[in-house]
Amino acid sequence: MITPPQSRTPLEPERIPATVETLLHEFLDAQIDNAADLPELDLFAQTLRDMIAAGGKRIRPVLCVVGWQAVSHRQPPSEVWRVAASLELFHLFALIHDDIMDASRTRRGRPAAHCSLATRHAGRGDAATLGVNAAILLGDLALGWSYELLHVARPGAAARHLHRAWPLLNALRTETLVGQYLDLVGSGPAAATPPDSATAWRVIRYKTAKYTCERPLQLGAHLAGADPKVLAALSAYALPLGEAFQLRDDLLGVFGDPERTGKSVLDDFREGKNTVLAATALRLATPAQARLLRAGLGNRALTGAQASELRQVVTDTGAQAVVESLIGERFEQALAALDHAPLRPAATTILRAMAAGAVARTS
Ligand code: IPE
Ligand code: IPE
Ligand code: MG
Ligand code: MG
Repeated sequence: MITPPQSRTPLEPERIPATVETLLHEFLDAQIDNAADLPELDLFAQTLRDMIAAGGKRIRPVLCVVGWQAVSHRQPPSEVWRVAASLELFHLFALIHDDIMDASRTRRGRPAAHCSLATRHAGRGDAATLGVNAAILLGDLALGWSYELLHVARPGAAARHLHRAWPLLNALRTETLVGQYLDLVGSGPAAATPPDSATAWRVIRYKTAKYTCERPLQLGAHLAGADPKVLAALSAYALPLGEAFQLRDDLLGVFGDPERTGKSVLDDFREGKNTVLAATALRLATPAQARLLRAGLGNRALTGAQASELRQVVTDTGAQAVVESLIGERFEQALAALDHAPLRPAATTILRAMAAGAVARTS
């Protein structure tokens, strides 16, 4: 059951996550109730509930609802909430599989899904493999459920509007998966796959900017009947913002506080991620610094002490400062795109505040 908020007051963005979380919990409860003969489903649903409870900024659902508000003065109808919740479930799928691919053991401050599922089988010799395989299935389920959540049984306006949203949803899925593939191809020991900026920018655009910012905003606006001009204006704001969001993520992945990000500061180094940060550091490095970077990036056995040394090199090359300025430029670009955008002013104000929060974040 999708029960949108009844209030007639303008929707505040801070209130959006709670509504989305309620919808997700209702949906997961219904999956369990409808499959009484599949008690194994409890574990899957509970792992998703735990991930939701562990945190997350809910930027995608919030942008979807704000996308609606950018076009319509009406309260968002149930189909907007469905898409908003679906985006978070899709995100959970992406995170679960991402943590397997990136060998990340921590997500939102808790064991990543493949680790928590392994714990369920502790004592078995193959617990770690079982955890990974179970998490692959959990991710598959989350992806499938993210579409099931959009299914409306009765024909009518909601079903028609949702049908119209499919091309954007399809684009979002394809873009994200290709982005993730590009990310993987670019990862590895720096000596074998040297980080390069041009590829890193493509990775950022597809693995993050589109599915985190552009498509969620466009989906909300599209459901409200936005014309192509509005969709283009949202894109002009969202793509630079999404790029800044990922550049910030890359900095947090190296210099962040794991207590706040809920993620390790070793994973990007150990996986040898082809980030703009790594590519810039290599470009600016002295020969001695470059030797250290090549030896460290992609070394899966990198210790905490070696990571501190690499961090120092990244700072000393000036790469950290360069990425900070790239974030600043994209933030300004996103704000400038709003200046004459054909959007409702109330939504523009929210989008400005969200941009500031997305680029200055510490979590
Ligand atoms: C993490 O996304 C993956 C990226 C695309 C950077 P978020 O930073 O939105 O993660 P949560 O949902 O807040 O945990
Ligand atoms: C995650 O990207 C992107 C998706 C989940 C699609 P990253 O691998 O860079 O993000 P974190 O640091 O693990 O959250
Ligand atoms: Mg990744
Ligand atoms: Mg990752």
